[in-house]
This record gives sequence, C-alpha cells and structure tokens, in this order.
Amino acid sequence: MRIVKRFAVLAVFAVAPGLAHAAPPAPVSYVLVGPDGARLARTLTAAPDCPAIVLDGRPAPMTVRAVARTSPLRKSVFNPETKPSVFSETVCEAPVPASVRRASIAGARLPLPPARITRIVVIGDTGCRLKANPAGGGEFQACNSKDAYPFARVAASAAAWKPQLVVHVGDYHYRENACPADNAGCAGSVWGYGGDAWMADFFEPGAPLLRAAPLALVRGNHESCSRGGQGWMRYLDVAPFSAARSCDDPANDAVADYSDPFAVPLGGGAQLIMFDSSNAPAGVMPAGDIRLKHYSDNFVAMRALAAHAPYSILVDHHPLLNLGAYAGPDGKVSVVGGNAGLQQAFGPFSPTFVPSGVKLVLSGHVHLWEATSFNGAFPGQFVAGFSGTQEEAVPLPRAVPPGFMTAPGALVDTFSSWSVGFGFMTMTRAGPDRWRVEVRDLDGKVVNRCRVAGSEISCRIGYVPPYAAKAPADD
Ligand SMILES: [Fe+2]
Repeated sequence: MRIVKRFAVLAVFAVAPGLAHAAPPAPVSYVLVGPDGARLARTLTAAPDCPAIVLDGRPAPMTVRAVARTSPLRKSVFNPETKPSVFSETVCEAPVPASVRRASIAGARLPLPPARITRIVVIGDTGCRLKANPAGGGEFQACNSKDAYPFARVAASAAAWKPQLVVHVGDYHYRENACPADNAGCAGSVWGYGGDAWMADFFEPGAPLLRAAPLALVRGNHESCSRGGQGWMRYLDVAPFSAARSCDDPANDAVADYSDPFAVPLGGGAQLIMFDSSNAPAGVMPAGDIRLKHYSDNFVAMRALAAHAPYSILVDHHPLLNLGAYAGPDGKVSVVGGNAGLQQAFGPFSPTFVPSGVKLVLSGHVHLWEATSFNGAFPGQFVAGFSGTQEEAVPLPRAVPPGFMTAPGALVDTFSSWSVGFGFMTMTRAGPDRWRVEVRDLDGKVVNRCRVAGSEISCRIGYVPPYAAKAPADD
C-alpha cells in the first residue's frame, strides 16, 4: 500500500543519522458534510499527534478521533477467512464553522461547500471486489488493472468536472479476502478490514475527489459492522466515535449497524436526507426483527427532516424503488422490484414509501446506472453503483414489462439504464425542483442526459448499450 509504505520509509528516515530533517508525509485530509450541513474536517496521519487546522489564517487544534491500533477480529458470516484489522494511522478531526471561508491542513487547502450547492457528483460502489466463496472459488476483480478496476480514473474525471459536493451512495470497501495464489490480476493486493485495504479501495484512488469537494456519504452493506464497519466508523461516519460505535464488539451491533438520518441543506429550499440502510435485508423481515424497528424509527426521523424543506432527495445505499434483473439457477432472467425490506418498513407510513417532500431517491448497491420514474407521487429513483466495483453480470432488460410495478402501486412510467459501463453521474440544479443529469463514462464523456422535474425523470436514451462512447447531442 503506497501511503502506508511511505509512512514506514519516513519513520526509518526520522531515526536515521543525518536525516533528522526529512519532511513528514502529507496527511490524507478530507471534509465530510454532516448533520444540518456541518463541515467536519478529518485527517489521517502517521504521527500520534494531530496537526493543526488553519481556519481563516488562524491555527486551531484538531482532536484525535481514533488512535492507531489493531482492532479485534470480526468473524463474519460473509467471510470466515479474515484477520484483525490493523489501523496504522491516527484519525484526527475538527469542525469547520459555517463562518469560515478558508481552511487548510499541512498547507493543503480543504474544499468547503458553498451556501448554495448546484453541482453534484454522484458515485457509488467503488472498491475492488476480492471475495472468496466459503464453498470454494469466489469473485476476484483484477485490482492491478486500471481498466478492470477504474475507480482512480473515475475519481480523476469526476474531480475535473469541478463538483461542489460529492455524494457517495455506499460500498467503499471490497478487498475482503486474499487474492488466490494463481491469480495475476489481483496478485499482491492488500486485503482484510484494516487501514491498508481502506487506503487501496478508497483513499488512494479517490484522492482527487477528496481534494476537489466535500463529501456527503452514506454507508453500504460492505460497511456493516461484521464487514468493513470498523473502518467506516473511524474514517467516514459523521457521528462521534465511541467504543459502542466502533464495530469492535458484536454485542454492540444492534446499535452500531444503524445511524441517525441527517439532512444536508443544498440552499434554495432543497436538501439531501442521508439514510444508513447498510443492514437492510434483501427480502421481507419477520415480525419482531430489530431491523424493522430501526428502519421504522428512521422513517419517522426522516419525515421530521423532510418537513424542514420543500424539496428533498433521499440518499441511501439500497435502492428503494428500482427495477432489477435477477438470474435464477436455471439462468432464466426475472425482472424484480426495489428493496422489499425497506418497502415493508416504510410502507405503513406512506403509500409512496418516502416522507412527503422527497422527490428523488439516490442509491447504489446494484453495479450499473439506472433511472426510473413513476406514475403518481412516487419519487424518481436513480441507481449509481457503477464507479469501480465489478459490473453486474445480469444486464437490465431493454424495455420494462408492461404494467410492471417496482413496489405496490409504483407503476413504472420512464426507465433508462446503462448496464455495463463504469462512470459517474453529475447533477446540475436548474430550478427549485429541477436538475440536469448527465451520465458519464470513466473519462467524463456524456453517455446519456436526463432532465428531472419534481419526481419525473426523462432521459434522452432509454437503453444505453454496453460501454457506449458516443454522447447524445447537447441540449
Ligand atoms: Fe451493496
């Protein structure tokens, strides 16, 4: 891992005679946008102490969020082959008050959001999949290939678009298991739930985006406590770090596998509502399931947040109302609807499964791009899980089966998809409830354009062929 290795080399320099003045390594710094738009600066450093943050020219202390340590091994039903998580960097944090206009750490300027955010990049599902199957075999993406694992290229292209905010719809960490000895595509890759895998999957390839814009993040199922949750809590969760929310002890999972939703104001009456669906089931939950209570409580909290703005976009990992494709054991492809567990939890509160005022849902989890909108008051649904992780093997259908509903009553009106192609989505605000959306490939080239008006999404192209490179005409 490049950053960790650099730390190690400089640690040697620091004690070597004649090299006492070697420059310390630049820390990895970024800005998270938290509850009510709070700006939270974080930095990862090889030093035990935190650097200062400079706010409008005045140095201020950062505090230690999480010390460098080896966290306990978390055995997982997903992953019997694992090891304790080594985190070799100190995680520091400091709030950046809303009045502050310039902030920097170790001479590097931090990106701060404007009061009115009109240019947003959406990415999702960005890590390199290294997943053993306990029964043998597994899925091993060629992490050593920039073509097979292109998150770094996507991040550089997305940064070049100059977003004011980056939304990540979850699933950052994928290097769960060791690369098989005979697999050159991923040979030598770091793995496990420790800091080296987090650096390789997120902080190193995502570096251009971390420098370009603040981050509004939701947690994916790969960041649940029994998987990459320890890293999520240290690095990316916006709530205070604590033992109970460290994901170190399975006894606390009933708390730490969930988070309070929060709102990110965009200005002009719009906001994002960030929802942690990381532990959502794929199917219906039995009565008494703790998840049902958590997600019901989350709906009530989101309803209160939604009341604060006329226009809200719900951001979560699991698509609530998407159209999916599933191949059965016999290879037959079926078209399926959105997440049944979340629909079960939210349905009793609202016939459209979202609080009043929520017009769009941004999700990931499925490794493709998709836009679906509906007859009636249902929110439009985007899926943007196409930014680095191996693409879905089962492509979406070219056309929606007549009368297909992705949830009870959610009759599909418009549908557009790009099933096999890496990239990112850009959103440019065009009015109080209007957006221009572009679907871009890994070089930033437009492969589809959509307009959003309220909850309606209309795209130029209904079915973008795999790896389409030709952009539709500008409008
Ligand atoms: Fe996922």
